[in-house]
Amino acid sequence: MVAPPRVGPLRQNGAMAPDPKIELVPVTAENWRDCAALTVHGEQQRFVSAVTYYLCLCAYGDTWHPLAATEDGEVVGFVMWGVDDDRSAWIGGLVVDGRRQRQGIGHAIVRQLRERLIAEPGTPNVALSYAADNIAARRLYRTLGFRETGETEGTELVARWTRPESA
Ligand SMILES: CC(C)(COP(=O)(O)OP(=O)(O)OC[C@H]1O[C@@H](n2cnc3c(N)ncnc32)[C@H](O)[C@@H]1OP(=O)(O)O)[C@@H](O)C(=O)NCCC(=O)NCCS
Repeated sequence: MVAPPRVGPLRQNGAMAPDPKIELVPVTAENWRDCAALTVHGEQQRFVSAVTYYLCLCAYGDTWHPLAATEDGEVVGFVMWGVDDDRSAWIGGLVVDGRRQRQGIGHAIVRQLRERLIAEPGTPNVALSYAADNIAARRLYRTLGFRETGETEGTELVARWTRPESA
């Protein structure tokens, strides 16, 4: 049987970029240091906390759960998830290492995680929030079909994704 053509994110020059082979794996004794070492570009630092802070939030709070994003076993990103009182699933703390951005990794992380989250019975939608001037995040989430709801979370805009009826 002939394999169907792979569809990856469309790049600015119109060429199809290869879909990165991203895996979302538990944060463990073996990989937490690599998660903690992830850094973003200087001008992006105001949009997120340090991954070490997120790891503490997950370890000592009762809301968030951490995941490492790996490519060929190398940690290239970090993300957290949690479930709200209304059962909507939240994605937070998304970080792609500065040296690995613009390669489709953020896209792959969010797409994979939201599929996992929406698969949980009774989950009405997947939500996230971001600063209004975080252009990269705003474009990424919009590309993935998240829509701003008019809600805010602190100073951030909330956007939600619901699986399309036809899917
Ligand atoms: C936001 C972030 C996670 C995106 O990760 P990424 O791996 O670079 O994203 P992708 O390569 O998958 O990009 C997917 C799309 O997002 C948008 N995007 C990503 N980076 C962008 C940038 N610097 N400027 C404008 N648009 C951008 C584009 O639409 C892009 O598609 P394209 O490359 O085909 O144009 C990454 O920039 C990051 O870690 N930023 C700092 C932390 C942060 O702000 N996290 C989000 C908190 S809400």
